[in-house]
Amino acid sequence: METYSEAQPEAPPPESTALDTLGEWEKSHDCNSLGASNIGDTVVLMGWVQRRRDHGGLIFVDLRDRMGMTQVVFDPQSDAAAHERAHALRSEFVIAIEGTVRARPEGMANPKLRTGEIEVIVGELRILNISATPPFPIEDDLETSENVRLRYRYLDLRRPTMFKNLLLRHRATQLTRGYFSEHGFIEVETPVLTRSTPEGARDYLVPSRVSQGKFYALPQSPQLFKQLLMVGGIERYFQIVKCFRDEDLRADRQPEFTQVDLELSYVREEQIQSLIEGWIGLLFRELLGIELSLPFPHMPYTQSIDRFGTDRPDLRYDLYLENVTDIVSGSDFRVFRQAVERGGIVKSIRVPGGAGLSRKELDDLIEYVKIFGAQGMAWIKIQPDGWQSPVTKFLSGEIQNRLTERMGLRTGDLLLFVADQSRIVNDSLANLRARLAQQMGLVDPGRFAFVWVTHFPLLEWDLEEKRFTSVHHPFTAPLDEDLDWLESEPERVRSRAYDLVLNGTEIGGGSIRIHRQDIQGRVFKALGIDEEAAREKFGFLLEALQLGAPPHGGIAFGLDRLIMLLGGLGSIREVIAFPKTQKATCLLSGAPAEPDIRQLLELGVRVEKERRI
Ligand code: AMO
Ligand code: AMP
Repeated sequence: METYSEAQPEAPPPESTALDTLGEWEKSHDCNSLGASNIGDTVVLMGWVQRRRDHGGLIFVDLRDRMGMTQVVFDPQSDAAAHERAHALRSEFVIAIEGTVRARPEGMANPKLRTGEIEVIVGELRILNISATPPFPIEDDLETSENVRLRYRYLDLRRPTMFKNLLLRHRATQLTRGYFSEHGFIEVETPVLTRSTPEGARDYLVPSRVSQGKFYALPQSPQLFKQLLMVGGIERYFQIVKCFRDEDLRADRQPEFTQVDLELSYVREEQIQSLIEGWIGLLFRELLGIELSLPFPHMPYTQSIDRFGTDRPDLRYDLYLENVTDIVSGSDFRVFRQAVERGGIVKSIRVPGGAGLSRKELDDLIEYVKIFGAQGMAWIKIQPDGWQSPVTKFLSGEIQNRLTERMGLRTGDLLLFVADQSRIVNDSLANLRARLAQQMGLVDPGRFAFVWVTHFPLLEWDLEEKRFTSVHHPFTAPLDEDLDWLESEPERVRSRAYDLVLNGTEIGGGSIRIHRQDIQGRVFKALGIDEEAAREKFGFLLEALQLGAPPHGGIAFGLDRLIMLLGGLGSIREVIAFPKTQKATCLLSGAPAEPDIRQLLELGVRVEKERRI
């Protein structure tokens, strides 16, 4: 384990420090709040010792609470007993002081500290608790591994940044509750011990003791229940709700996370979207002082894949994918020709100013696209004296002219090409695009680029399972005009789903739902779910659809992701009080843990450690 090496002040062993009680004292101020206008006031402050410094008979303590820091001074002239006891103080001791606010002496003000003009001269000290040496210093510029922070999360939370993050989250949820309540939504809680709600991840299962051999599933989302609430006449529902998904974790994914979830009856896509724009606009105005430009732009899924290679386009920078299959398919370059012959495509990115990249930088980019399955990447530098590239010799004058025109080429540009099956081309170039933007400093960190991605395909072919699966979820409505293709050409059917993407991250997704039992039956069929299986899994929903279900739709946002982006942070773990690691463990509590054998017996569950599917 890493240790905190900063020298502690000399102090008697903690055991010998006599502790005081709080008594009748109440905190009169937060540690960030005193200033020149308080000079002469008697105050009571409480918090942690950040640092103790002994100077010419005086003892200075930086006293910290969740709001900030105040310098308190122990002077033997003013209170000899308190001064004597102050020698025992060490970092993270919990103390309360009563004292008088005074101006700091001439030249001693600290302009970096909000309370830097004043200090509090202590009249009485109460030592409320001692602390062992913390494993890391409680300060913002921390060079400690995240694992140590998670192991001692309660210490990590004492750092000003972490408190700021939680406060931001709190304010966002307050605003959210206010906004949706004002728009006629009511907050309804849905069950946590429930049946599987499919959102594409694995379920967390909870064995039932009463019904042995049966399991509850923790909800991946409240999807089914919020639809049932619409059938129940609630008309406008919202909930700030924990969801559980057993999936591969990343910086923007946690096994339990929070959704801002809503559902409305009698609506079209546009109404839901403008309602959401009002809410997001409010959050940015109130929390960041930023006036967003509304409405957000819309982009159909096919255009997003075509131009950005992904359904989460980052619109903060001008790098675009261009399909050049038609131009290069007839070239003498074997790699391009063969990819096209095998049903693949060739796409290119023009990188303005990219001709300056070194050979080594290009090689690194080639290695990078290989992570996403590309076999390689061809490049062309447009130099003042002509095209420089290992592949120029294979490209005829006509092909070069057409590329120049299609790509809008200028001197100093770099062209990058990947040829392969479309999925690999899109995936590798989408990632390359993001990396180039970072590498070349094209991303303006102060920009918030929102876009609604719409018209997703309803279904996609799952190569492993050899059947169609839902792109959103099985309850998403097909576009009316595409409905006739559901049986004949299912892959052609577009859905009424929409995602809201911010700076390349999907922050929310939703859809208009199927409210008619006949259409739901047809979609299940297209998904290869036969009637019996549909009845077994979702019979309660199908039944509800037969009992007067109004047309309805909704959306859910990843609250953690939204707060992460609002706070300009790199991981959702920074906005979750007690997050889990990449392996879904809690380093603080040790969860998941082995159960007591008696619990297992009661549940009728036996663990076979060796067997894995
Ligand atoms: P979806 O599966 O798109 O839709 O989820 C909605 C939003 O939840 C966030 N999210 C996550 N955040 C953190 N960790 C995770 N593991 C995680 N998974 C998802 C994302 C995502 O946009 N029931 C539908 C919504 C609907 O149709 O109304 C649903 O859950 O920001
Ligand atoms: P090779 O003939 O494999 O040596 O490749 C010649 C050039 O084409 C090299 O610059 C490779 O990086 C590039 N290349 C190889 N495979 C691909 C591909 N699938 N798409 C684009 N360029 C490729």
